[in-house]
Amino acid sequence: MSAGPRHIALVPAAGSGSRFGAALPKQYTPLAGHPLLFHALAALARHPRIDRVAVVISADDEWFASHDFTAIAGRLDVLRRGGDTRAESVRNGLRALESHVDAHDWILVHDAARPCLPAVVIDRLIDTLADDAIGGIAALPVADTLKRSDADSRIEATVPRAGLWAAQTPQMFRYGVLRDALERCDLAVVTDEAGAVEALGHAPRLVEGDPANLKVTYARDVALATHLLQAMETST
Ligand code: CTP
Ligand code: MG
Repeated sequence: MSAGPRHIALVPAAGSGSRFGAALPKQYTPLAGHPLLFHALAALARHPRIDRVAVVISADDEWFASHDFTAIAGRLDVLRRGGDTRAESVRNGLRALESHVDAHDWILVHDAARPCLPAVVIDRLIDTLADDAIGGIAALPVADTLKRSDADSRIEATVPRAGLWAAQTPQMFRYGVLRDALERCDLAVVTDEAGAVEALGHAPRLVEGDPANLKVTYARDVALATHLLQAMETST
């Protein structure tokens, strides 16, 4: 029996959390007894179909070592190779993984700032993309009516939402495709992995994400994320 491609999670966690606005980097903000980052890593490390989890932290990170990651340490690799942008952190992580992966292995890039990732989203990505040559992303069709504003916060136009999706993570791509995309793209412009892969001319697949899989961006997001985490923990 051939083993098939492996599924390796890569979590960029080298940001500063400027919109969050705290002295402590956002990924270390406490949430339900652990740093935000722990929850994102644990959702991946505890999933039976994820082989390994690699986290990219900043070279001068002073916080990671002071937290307890022993619950997931057996499947976790810590890479001190953060970059100036999210895309650069991911690119550095991919470079570090090079000798451990094949071009066809799957890389699931997931934000450290998304602590409430349901296991079912990982299953949907892996199942939907199993035979795909490129990959795809978790995303949700936009539900709200969209308005474009002018400089005075007045509505300039109503934007048709048909066909519009909001991108989430994980974003799951073949290692070879993603590495090529991030080596060739403008790291200062790209905002997600799919964007870099699209720039190569590919059309990544959209896979249904989950509203619970929110990104903690502002301090106000912590309360909702805490509620969701607690609800998810009591339902499993
Ligand atoms: N990230 C990273 N390296 C960077 C910038 C961001 O690894 N140079 C990571 C963040 O730590 C986070 C993910 O990319 O896990 C998504 O980024 P975002 O939510 O925007 O976090 P920050 O960039 O830290 O926040 P902000 O944009 O408000 O500064
Ligand atoms: Mg950012």
